[in-house]
Amino acid sequence: QVIDGTGKYLFPGLIDVHTHLREPGQEEKEEIATGARAALKGGFTTILAMPNTKPVLDQRALVEFVSNQGERAAGAKVYPIGAITKGEEGKELTEMVDLAAGGAKAFSDDGREVQNAELLRLAMEYVKLTGLPLISHCEDDNLARGGSMHKGEVSARLGLRGIPSSAESVMVARDILLAEETGSKLHLAHISAKESVELIRAAKLRGVDVTAEVNPHHLIFTDEAVAESNYNTSYKVNPPLGSAQDREALLEGILDGTLDMLATDHAPHTWEEKMKPFAEAPFGIAGFETSLAAVWTYLVKPGKLPVEVLLRAWSLNPAQRFNLLGGKVQPGEIADLVLFDPEQKEKIESKWFTSKAQNTPFLGQELQGFACMVWVNGQLRLGK
Ligand code: DOR
Ligand code: ZN
Ligand code: ZN
Repeated sequence: QVIDGTGKYLFPGLIDVHTHLREPGQEEKEEIATGARAALKGGFTTILAMPNTKPVLDQRALVEFVSNQGERAAGAKVYPIGAITKGEEGKELTEMVDLAAGGAKAFSDDGREVQNAELLRLAMEYVKLTGLPLISHCEDDNLARGGSMHKGEVSARLGLRGIPSSAESVMVARDILLAEETGSKLHLAHISAKESVELIRAAKLRGVDVTAEVNPHHLIFTDEAVAESNYNTSYKVNPPLGSAQDREALLEGILDGTLDMLATDHAPHTWEEKMKPFAEAPFGIAGFETSLAAVWTYLVKPGKLPVEVLLRAWSLNPAQRFNLLGGKVQPGEIADLVLFDPEQKEKIESKWFTSKAQNTPFLGQELQGFACMVWVNGQLRLGK
């Protein structure tokens, strides 16, 4: 087959290391199959699935279930992330070695940070036996409790209870210190505050084995969006959209490599739940299908983010850190590839989605820059 790629980019397969597929347990929000196909449409050839399902991915059989469903979906490749602790209590460690043998590519407490430092320290000692990274959600329960947006001038003006930046940064500091002491691999999820960026930069200078990711929504929006959108709950996300200074520090962090990766934190929810008042709606933005185009439209096209940085952050660095194919294909190996059309424009409407969820701030907008053909393991899975 001869493909005319004039005016297009051939990207290595993009890897999304932070996604929520909701199966088992909340299939009304998303299924592994709908999520994996939505990810493919968004340009991702590999995704890592967070363990905060119902039940949580705390047993080998559950980890294997996610892998198997992922394979059947024939979308992006799906790899499970095992839970650090059993159930939703966060009190007892899982059998991480067993979960790794079942196919887990990392371990995480996403959705509910381990609050007990002693237990997390033990988890870090234990995770070393698997050689895999521990992914931390970085949120202090007490500081964050009851808040629905970033605590600052905007939350005060709107009369909404805020979540201070320290809810994230104190846990970033703690987790870095624990990783430094134990010598384990740490990955920090969805970094949103400038104080966190500074802590990570300093830790890397000291040689701590830490990587970190940033979500497109934190690079594109600020807490002003909550006011400007008249409390649109599609802007309600955890960690919350921060100040303009936070956004600037995050962009600087991705440009200088302090923040290693881009990740969507695809968090699908039903309309019914997102229709609730701002303070009561669940946190989360659905990101699979719009994230690449949003980053292209808002950051790459205006010259704020070089395409080389995008590819390092969304393919090479995730591939290296989590030991996945995609950004690090050797000659002779079977490739994951994306043909990307920087001129393709799409109006983001309800009927356009492959995901079950549409809780995105880009709904109703036009975005530019989409994947037009996607190959997974050398097999064409999207486009023709
Ligand atoms: O906004 C979020 N949604 N942040 C999280 O940490 C969890 C996620 C979810 O599971 O919905
Ligand atoms: Zn999280
Ligand atoms: Zn998440």
